[in-house]
Amino acid sequence: MTDTSQRPAETARSSGRIVRQANPRNLETPVEHLRSFITPTDQFYIRNHFSTPRLDRAGYRLEITGAVDQPASLTYDELRALPVEHRVVTLECAGNGRVFLDPQAKGVQWALGAVSTAEWTGVLLADLLAKAGLRPDATEIILEGADRGHPKEDPKPAGAIAYARSLPLVKALSPDVLLAYQMNGGDLPLEHGFPVRAIVAGHYGMASVKWLTHIHASPVPFQGYWQTTDYAYWDKQAGHMVRRPLGAMKPKSIITQPAPYDAVAPGQSCQITGAAWTGEAEITQVLVSTDGGESWGEAIFLDPMQRHAWRRWSFDWQVPDVPGPCVLMSRAFDSSGAAQPDQYDPHYCGYVINQCLKIEVMVAADRQD
Ligand code: MTE
Repeated sequence: MTDTSQRPAETARSSGRIVRQANPRNLETPVEHLRSFITPTDQFYIRNHFSTPRLDRAGYRLEITGAVDQPASLTYDELRALPVEHRVVTLECAGNGRVFLDPQAKGVQWALGAVSTAEWTGVLLADLLAKAGLRPDATEIILEGADRGHPKEDPKPAGAIAYARSLPLVKALSPDVLLAYQMNGGDLPLEHGFPVRAIVAGHYGMASVKWLTHIHASPVPFQGYWQTTDYAYWDKQAGHMVRRPLGAMKPKSIITQPAPYDAVAPGQSCQITGAAWTGEAEITQVLVSTDGGESWGEAIFLDPMQRHAWRRWSFDWQVPDVPGPCVLMSRAFDSSGAAQPDQYDPHYCGYVINQCLKIEVMVAADRQD
């Protein structure tokens, strides 16, 4: 028999987000909360690999080691004393949309909502590295969180490991990387990385290390688990397949209204709305199809072009009089010339799911007014 005794408490803690996994907690933003430009903090998706570490401000230390002239151990107050920066950044988990893959891929079965947007406040990683005196032999910056555990997929190390990812130096020194202590104007919530996390604008969410406690300047490429076994893909190089870490987000758009399988009234105008985002470029165009990809029309943008933040869009659809299913699709284009593909590329091993999705809605038999 199913034990339902834990359900009310769990639902309260998820504040209506979809529980994709209870332990570690992985919560998806419901489609109706993907319609605002800033996602309310208590609706922002959560992606955890291990149990949440509980750090306190008083005991917090951020260690800076490796290829630096002055290794440091910063307190929370020392970090807060550095120049303040704000960024509006859309974070998307690299596995967002995995439920739409056929054949099914291993991992959390995210639908549309492992993506959200927030305003983040913090300090530039570049400022910290400048203070520590980065040495010329540094090529990558490793960011490590305080959470530890046993990862699932092989090949994996024998013992417990920390969650850690590295960034190429050029990205780490850019104004795109924030060490954030606030989210939407409030203290960073525990599950989003309290007291300090990285926000790597333009990269898939795995780069934005939460509960950040250690920064290491490395002279050699980082080969950690989350860089090679997980959050990596196969690329072709001189006729060979080589493993590379995932990095910048690819262009993607989602339809947030109507929701999949919604009923729409026949013979009326229906507003199709959605959001589009990309990594190291700007979203320039979104095309919409209401006939499964036979014909396409241009959506209008509801938000200005702002690198690293999604742009919501809208499209006026004259719904046919004939009842039955209709397939809605959207395709985003960015300023680098990249667009969403028609098909999933399996070299991404269950990640980078940005092909145009087919969202089915039903034209109802009767007018609903
Ligand atoms: N940082 C730590 N320390 N541990 C984690 O499990 N998950 C990563 C990233 N940072 C993770 C982490 C992944 S895969 C994503 S998509 C984002 O955090 C999600 O951030 P959020 O939970 O605030 O939405």
